[in-house]
Parts: sequence; structure tokens; C-alpha cells
Amino acid sequence: MKQAVWSAWLLFLVAATPHAAAVSVTSPDGRIAFELRLNDRSEPVYTVSLADEVVISESRLGLRIDGLPPLDSRLVLIDTVTTMKDHTWELPWGEQRLVRDHHNELLARFSVSGKSGQTLGVRVRVFNDGAGFRYEVSGPSTGSTLSIVEEMTEFHLPQGSEAWWIPARRSQRYELLYRHTRVEAVASAHTPFTVRTPRGTYVSLHEAALTNYAAYTLEQRREGVFKTQLAPSSQGFAVSVPAPFKTPWRTLQVSERATGLIESNLILNLNEPNVLGDVSWVKPGKYVGIWWSIHRGLKTWRSGPRHGATTANTRQHIDFAQRHGFDGVLVEGWNLGWDGGGWFADGDLFSFTQPHPDFDLRGLADYARSRDVRLIGYHETAGALTNYERQMDDAFALYRELGVRQVKTGYVADAGEIERIDERGVLRHEWHDGQFMVDHYRRNIEHAAQHQISIFTHEPVKDTGLRRTYPNWLASEGARGQEWNAWGTPPNPPHHVPTLAFTRLLAGPMDFTPGIFELQFARQEGVQKIQSTLARQLALYVVIYSPIQMAADLPENYEARTDAFQFIKDVATDWDRSIALAGEPGDFVALARKERGGSEWYIGAVTDEQKRELNLPLDFLEEGVSYTAEIYRDGPDAHFREQPYDIVIEQRVVSRGDSMALTLAPGGGAAVRLAPAGD
Ligand code: NOJ
Repeated sequence: MKQAVWSAWLLFLVAATPHAAAVSVTSPDGRIAFELRLNDRSEPVYTVSLADEVVISESRLGLRIDGLPPLDSRLVLIDTVTTMKDHTWELPWGEQRLVRDHHNELLARFSVSGKSGQTLGVRVRVFNDGAGFRYEVSGPSTGSTLSIVEEMTEFHLPQGSEAWWIPARRSQRYELLYRHTRVEAVASAHTPFTVRTPRGTYVSLHEAALTNYAAYTLEQRREGVFKTQLAPSSQGFAVSVPAPFKTPWRTLQVSERATGLIESNLILNLNEPNVLGDVSWVKPGKYVGIWWSIHRGLKTWRSGPRHGATTANTRQHIDFAQRHGFDGVLVEGWNLGWDGGGWFADGDLFSFTQPHPDFDLRGLADYARSRDVRLIGYHETAGALTNYERQMDDAFALYRELGVRQVKTGYVADAGEIERIDERGVLRHEWHDGQFMVDHYRRNIEHAAQHQISIFTHEPVKDTGLRRTYPNWLASEGARGQEWNAWGTPPNPPHHVPTLAFTRLLAGPMDFTPGIFELQFARQEGVQKIQSTLARQLALYVVIYSPIQMAADLPENYEARTDAFQFIKDVATDWDRSIALAGEPGDFVALARKERGGSEWYIGAVTDEQKRELNLPLDFLEEGVSYTAEIYRDGPDAHFREQPYDIVIEQRVVSRGDSMALTLAPGGGAAVRLAPAGD
């Protein structure tokens, strides 16, 4: 690691012109520049540019804290320190194994003019793929609890930019269809918020290492000027923290190519390293489950004649998993509490340790292990947080004893309607992205880790890369997933996944639950629920990164299509490298990934409603090796509405230097396995 400190030089610069001086820090390749200065009202402001294009023009910074002088105006720059870092670190599992963290850092410290002591630090890191900055508050308040009244951070985007976004503070949390509009049409939005400037540069605004704080959303205050809004809390102030404190990083991924956003490591690089030590107990893998049959209405969570989580049905799923090499079986509706009026209204009834009488939890856990399969645990809280937190440790301890390694959690509650009883016995309502829940999700992960259990969270707070720090946080949902295609109106349209690739998926792994083979089950109702061809369902395993992937459909639907099912059986979920080959937000995307610990490559490509011809250069393949390409592509008549099952499965031999031409049908896709010939 190289380190250089230029503070003395910068101090001179600052002392010479206390208000007007600008300090700037650039990316290692010199193309991205972050400039920080005090404007003539002594407010801290910044700009970001890529080469000669200003992508964030002068935007405000700062915090307002209850009982302290405003930390956003009448500031004086005290000192600055610039450092540089270049090192490579390893992900225990991930879309790649090695990550290079190469950045220049500037720490600028400000104090309030005429008042002594309290300082606002702005720490900026600029990488070749973007920039991040955070606030660090210290001073006489140390030891007290500070309440944040308002965060003043703004992002001033170029006029006429386009954005891909979902609205904030709505029902359904993050599970909304993305909109594609001019930025001026956005009122408030969640992040990742992805933008294309009029000059064609891509910028995605998000945050990293969201912990001990509330998530932020963006609110357009003046044309093109987006201000951070912290998610509300039932306590009044959005955030209360012990001083001194640091905020999460506010991030901007910046790239001339849309695919550059996908390849960016900025979010992970801005998170703290693994705090769990040896995490060899965290296992990526593939799972099946008693889940889609419930969402389809064929089975129920509640007990009765159609109860899904029976001992017999679970055994059949375990047998199926063993036959086809899956690692886990998820069983929803296994515990007591689903029989109340409507389970999402009666979350307090859930037990997380007591199985329903027709589900032999211990017997099934043993049966699964004897077949080299594990039960995957399930904790649906229905947003009744106090009930869950009281039982959480006992529930994890029980699962550990039973050999369960992974637990899916669920927080079904309308936005702003998470329930908790506070220390005084008062019922309070919280947001999924408010500070209380941000802290809960982390507590959940920490407690699970104590029992060597990994978590994938449904109805989460947005992912901000904490999987680096807590590698047992495998994935989360946090967007409209496949389940919406069972009952949602409208179902996910074909452009949904090519949009997710450049928005939600920039945040981290998603448990989307791909692999539906029975595609026309709702035709009799006049709605094509699954707006996808069969080949596209396979492509999702490569396009949507997650270390745990479900084969979501019913076992019988796979056994009826063993030819296409072979791809799901083969595809890896843990990768050595990932390359975004081509794509544009909302239109199409193609990725190639190399399996970890092996030599196979996989390609996945999906398109929107348009037919598309791709020609993908295979220059990532190893030199001098011939590969057998097993291609699963849309047939000549394939179309997501009329002919979703038209698929061609074929083989050919390819090597580095060749290109792969793929025709994607409307709503279609392609999946390719490339294995060294002869393997
Ligand atoms: C919401 C989850 O997203 C879904 O996968 C699950 O089946 C339901 N909750 C029921 O717990």
C-alpha cells in the first residue's frame, strides 16, 4: 500500500484564501475530479466532473444537528489531508474474487466560524469508477447523543438528463416498477437512482455502509437539484447517534458506458472489511422450495387441506433436491402463526420455534442432512418486530442445532407500518428504511452470525454493500421480484430486468427467484403473467447476481423439461470474475461470469419487449483452450406472449477470438455454458 500525505501543502493553500480556496481530489486515472470549497456564504459545496463534463454542478453539503450551530453555513476550513490507497482484497464469495481498491482521499475539516470546537469532516474518496463522501462529526458533543434535524447534501444533475427510478415513501416499499423519465419529472426517488446525462455519461447515486443511520431518498427541490431526505423515525428526529459519529457514504458511480456501472466496485470498496473472521461456514448455493406453489394459490401457508409445509410434501422436495444436486429446500408456512385472520395483520402470533403439528421439523432436518441437502429456515415477521426480536436468538439456536445454515427473513408490512413496542410499552410504527430498521437488519445479521447462520432478507432496507463486513448477509429482495408474476398487477414487463441491472442490482445481490418453466398458467384469465420466454428464465441465473439462487418452479415442471432444466443444474452461483458485455438501461443486458474454483464460463443476456441481435466477442476465454458452448436460445418463433416455449438448445465449439451471435426474441433471452472441450 502506498500512502502520501500532502496536508502541509494544502494547509498553505487554505490559509492563503480562507473562503475562496477550493481543494480537489481526482481519481487515480485523473479523469474524475471532486472539488470542494466554501461559497461566499461560507457554505460547503462540491462539484464532480468526468474529464471536461461537469456531472454534479455546485451542490451543498452539511448537516443540521439539534442543539448545535448549523454545520452547513458560516464554516471555516481548518485543515485538509490527502492520502492515496491501492490494494487488492478478496471476497469470500461474490460476483468476483479479487477487488482492487484504488483511490485518492481528501479529508477536509470545517469548524463553525466564531464558535469553538465542533467540527464537520468531509471525507471524500475518488476512484476510477466514481466517488464517495461521508461526514464525520466530532468535538465537544463527544459522549452525548446527537439528533440530526436535516442532512443538507444535494446532487445537482445536468439539465436534460434522463433517469431510471422508483418513487420513495410509497406503499410496497421498493417493490415498484421503474420509471424512465427526464430528471425534471422526478419528485422523490429511492436510490440507486441512475441517470444518463445529455452527453451520454451514466451516473448512479446511492450510498454505502448504511448503518447506525437512516437511509436517504432523493427529493427534487429545484430543477435538477436533488436533496437527501432521511427516512423518518417514530422518535421525531430521523437519526439519533452517539457522538462522535460518521454518516454512511454518499456515492456516485460514474461511467461513460452503462455497463461500467455494473462493473463498478465502489459500493463494496467503501464498506468496512469482514468483521466475522473465518466465514467458511457461509455457503453459496442453489435451492428449491415450497414457495411458488403457495404464491400460485395451489398450496397455502395456513394449515388445512392445502397446507404446503407438510412432512410428506417437504420430503418430496428434499428427494427432488437430492436427485438434482440442489443444496437447500425452503419451506414457508412451517411454523405456528399462519392461521390467524390474515397473517400479515397478525404478525404477533408467529412462533419462530414451534412447528405446525403436520410439519416434523426435527425429522425433516435429519432426513435432509442424510441426503446431503439442508432445510432453509424461514422467518416471516409480518413487520411485528418486537415479537420477532424476542424470539430471534432462540430461533437461530434451534436452527443451528438442526443443521440449518441459511434463513430467509420476511418483513411484510406496508411502508411505514413496521410495529414495535418501545421501552415504555408504547406501540410505534417505523419505516423499513428508517434508523430503527436499519439497526434491526444489522442486529439480525449479527445474531445469526453467532449461530453460523446466513440470511437473505425479503422486504429489506436497500442493500449498501454490508455483505463485505458481514459475509453472512447473502442477499436481499428490495425490488419487484418474480413473485409479482404470480399475483401482481401488472406483472413485471420484459424491460423490468434490463432496468434492474442498471438500478437495484448495482446495490448488491438480489433473491429474485428465477426459473419459472410453466409460463402460461394465467392465460385463462386473459393475462400473460410471466412475460418471458423459457430461454430468458435461464438467462436470469447469470444476469441477476446472487450467491443463492432458487429454482423457483414446481418440481414437476422441471421434470417435464429436463433439457432446459440442465442449465439450472449446471450454472454456478459463486464467481471468480464477472464482465458486463453489453447493455443499456431498460433495453437489454448481457453478462459473462467465470465460476469460482473452476474453468467454466456462463453467459446470460435478456432484452426488453424488442427483438435484439447481439454479437458478443468471446475475448475473455482462456487463450489456447477450446470450449464447448451449450447454447439455450430463443427459437425462431419465440415471443414472450405467443410462443414462450420456443427454445433451441444446441452445442458448438468456440475459442477466444470468436464471437457469439445471439438473437433474443421479444421478452426473450439466452443462456450459454462454456466448458473446456473434453471436460
Ligand atoms: C414476502 C416474501 O417476499 C415472500 O417471498 C414470502 O413468500 C412472503 N413474504 C410470505 O412470507
